[in-house]
Amino acid sequence: MKTVVFSSKSYDEEFLNAANGKGDHKLKFLPARLDEATASLAKGYDAVCVFVNDLVNATVVDTLADLGVKAIALRCAGYNNVDLVRAKERGLAVVRVPAYSPHAVAEFAVTLLFSLNRRIHKAYNRVREGNFELAGLMGFDLVGKTVTVVGTGKIGAIFARIMHCIGCRVFAVDAYRNAELEALGVTYLPLQEALPQSDIISLHCPLTPETRHLVNEQSLSQMKRGVLLINTGRGALIDTAAVIAALKSGIIGGLALDVYEEEDKLFFSDHSHHIIPDDVFMRLTTFPNVLLTGHQAFFTREAMEQIASVTLQNLSDLQATGTSANSV
Ligand code: NAI
Repeated sequence: MKTVVFSSKSYDEEFLNAANGKGDHKLKFLPARLDEATASLAKGYDAVCVFVNDLVNATVVDTLADLGVKAIALRCAGYNNVDLVRAKERGLAVVRVPAYSPHAVAEFAVTLLFSLNRRIHKAYNRVREGNFELAGLMGFDLVGKTVTVVGTGKIGAIFARIMHCIGCRVFAVDAYRNAELEALGVTYLPLQEALPQSDIISLHCPLTPETRHLVNEQSLSQMKRGVLLINTGRGALIDTAAVIAALKSGIIGGLALDVYEEEDKLFFSDHSHHIIPDDVFMRLTTFPNVLLTGHQAFFTREAMEQIASVTLQNLSDLQATGTSANSV
């Protein structure tokens, strides 16, 4: 299919070109993010290929449909950035990559937790500056602590298993129980029962109207003082303003985020030569007990290979049959 790849980075080009070995698909790589201003760049293409922060709202879908675009291929699992109803109304197929190394994301969540707890982000800079002072770097043993995993799908289940192996007591919050986790000793609880007992909370559920601001002033007030909160899910699972207040009051003892509510204006680009106008994000960077990364949990070689090959297979399937097993 003739496909324009939006928000394209050097690594997208490398992996998609490798997966497109025989050149079955004509790929055009554009660094521009897809939004209302850039949708017209899809003129002449059968499909657009987009990532997590491309905006595919009703207006963009209408523009794409008017240009004759037939498919939206997400090179990610989440599709909260696509107006599915409008896409269906306008006859655009939407396909995604439902799973690409859930290990990559689960392992990254563990990395964030370990680093945050032992303040590796602070220690790294101190040692480079010749400061070997330990004050402010104290963590706690993870063994025996209580971890709540919100969402035990593909990623959350792996994270839960790792935490179980470390010797943590693991609670899970999910309407769908994973029998293998239960056999290990993981206990499913309603969120409000798990919150007051948790030393660590890690978010692995999708962003939906129901989960938007799941972590808010009210749920934060139920948490154990000093809790470590990890979010590799989607930024808007957390009400960032409420979390900043909880950091200031000490309810949250440490926060690690790979995703951020307003990340679409920041992430995946170099802003180091500019003033960042987002005061909420910049406030987060001032806390010694906050560790921020720019949506990199998925970013392993294995995941990139999988994303590229499944994305192109989805396009091939759409071309051949008009449908795909990975249709949304
Ligand atoms: P999945 O679909 O396998 O699992 C999601 C689980 O969340 C399901 O078991 C579902 O029942 C549960 N869930 C839904 N609503 C819930 C609620 N209100 N409370 C508790 N659980 C709830 O998805 P997967 O592959 O495990 O991914 C999870 C999320 O991780 C994705 O939706 C995506 O937003 C995020 N993600 C982040 C990446 C990153 O690089 N930071 C990369 C890939 C995914």
